[in-house]
Amino acid sequence: MRLTQTADLWWKSAVVYCLDIETFFDTNGDGVGDIRGLGQRIDHLAELGVTCLWLMPFYPTPDRDDGYDITDFYGVDPRLGTHGDIVELIRLAADRGMRVIADLVVNHTSDQHPWFQSARSSRESPYRDWYVWRDTPPEDGPEGVVFPDQEDSLWQFDEQAGQYYLHRFYKHQPDLNVANPEVREEISRVMGFWLELGMSGFRVDAVPFLLETAGATDASDLPDPHDYLRDLRAMLARRNGQAVLLGEVNLPYPETQKFFGDEDGDELTMCFDFIGMQQLYLSLARSEPGPLIKALRERPKAAEEGQWGTFIRNHDELTLDKLTDDERQEVFKAFGPEEHMQLYGRGLRRRLPPMFGNDQARLRMVYSLLFSMPGTPVLFYGEEIGMGENLAVEGRNAVRTPMQWTEGFNGGFSVADPADLTVPMVDGEFGPDNVNVAAQRRDPDSLMSWIRLLIQEYRACPELSWGDCTVLEHDAPAVFAHKSDFEGCTVVAVHNFSDQPAEFTLAVAGAGPGLRLIDLLKVGEAEVADDGTTRLELEPYGARWLRLLRPGDRYVI
Ligand code: NOJ
Repeated sequence: MRLTQTADLWWKSAVVYCLDIETFFDTNGDGVGDIRGLGQRIDHLAELGVTCLWLMPFYPTPDRDDGYDITDFYGVDPRLGTHGDIVELIRLAADRGMRVIADLVVNHTSDQHPWFQSARSSRESPYRDWYVWRDTPPEDGPEGVVFPDQEDSLWQFDEQAGQYYLHRFYKHQPDLNVANPEVREEISRVMGFWLELGMSGFRVDAVPFLLETAGATDASDLPDPHDYLRDLRAMLARRNGQAVLLGEVNLPYPETQKFFGDEDGDELTMCFDFIGMQQLYLSLARSEPGPLIKALRERPKAAEEGQWGTFIRNHDELTLDKLTDDERQEVFKAFGPEEHMQLYGRGLRRRLPPMFGNDQARLRMVYSLLFSMPGTPVLFYGEEIGMGENLAVEGRNAVRTPMQWTEGFNGGFSVADPADLTVPMVDGEFGPDNVNVAAQRRDPDSLMSWIRLLIQEYRACPELSWGDCTVLEHDAPAVFAHKSDFEGCTVVAVHNFSDQPAEFTLAVAGAGPGLRLIDLLKVGEAEVADDGTTRLELEPYGARWLRLLRPGDRYVI
């Protein structure tokens, strides 16, 4: 195996972990997590096998959209720490072989941003054209609005400005005008700043909206938004050849593919696989992998040097916007039947364990899938211990409750008065008494130990991250079987989507004597007949990874 190559393009076999500093670990007792706190708990992530931290926005903010409303792209929210703390964190991470990427939220600013304050104050402001203004906005309805429960138009009249401004998201988040070269220049400067401080790239917020050129007064201002993305990537590569852009692009596959750029991948390094994620939930609701298989077959190959970012949950609602209405209702019925679990009519504000009634076997099967399917797995903090949501908290914050470290006060997150926490803890079945890091860390049967094992094996199997994936045919409808081949090596993985045991025959190789299938997630081996087939059994929601050994193969650990 060409391990030097795998080490070079690190993102292709990374384990990304998304967290919000504010809810991770509070060291000064003010109820708000801080950068030093993350530093103190970084070994938890290193032990788990995480190789890349994705920090949700940590910039100065009025915090009306959990930090996605920024007032200074070059700053650090003083509640969380200082630039010194960020640099020290990056060093701590590097010490453990981990990279750090930052959320880059430059589609919009907060309306409190000094640029917008200046822009709205006068038509002569040097920042006026940094935003998108209209005397008479185009007719629109709530269709293109991202948060339809709060907003009914993309345009907001500003009394002070005497004009309407464009906002894709909340009205307190005016869109920047990327058709303006000064804005483009500034975005590069922001990226360059954080790269200099040691960041290894960015998770780019809302990419398709960022590239919108509604602000162009002359079409020649910005002929092709993809040219702009290409420029950003080239600039990134010039500054730091190892840096990545991990883009939020929730579009159908053919459109998403365009954001990777040409075959070499000269735009986004990675795109999140929103389609695969939604089809996975449909498969789980139906207890059969059909929709997931269809998605995997339709999913375009990532660019040669790119990769898909795969995930089970993130910090937003579990969006089901790309399913049909009927399919969405199927998923709602299975995993979020009550109205208060749903959001915007298109998603669920839940974490996975409560959706599954805390069925541990089913949870383990899903995470086994995440680490064995092609793509770079992205975890959301707390998934490793099976945290739940707090539905008493409004909106998307239901899934953004503090990390649960111990069974103690505030789950060991903070010594502050619970009333001072920015988001209240979960309580009950999924609260810290029952779900916490300390209890799971040394328990070999815990979910956390399972995820640690999955990460360890995923990292030891470049076939999974680098290989060509083939879905294997067989006669058990509830089982998803696939193999990944890379440079003559093969890993086979099987997953049972149903609560019934399954038995099936798989053709894993051409005919020949001496083939072996070695278990990777336990001590064991499956027999392979001389015709290249194997008969396998899976428990309800069972999962198994096997490496194929051909006669004479050197055993890869
Ligand atoms: C996408 C982010 O994931 C979401 O949390 C945020 O509200 C919007 N972009 C606006 O920045």
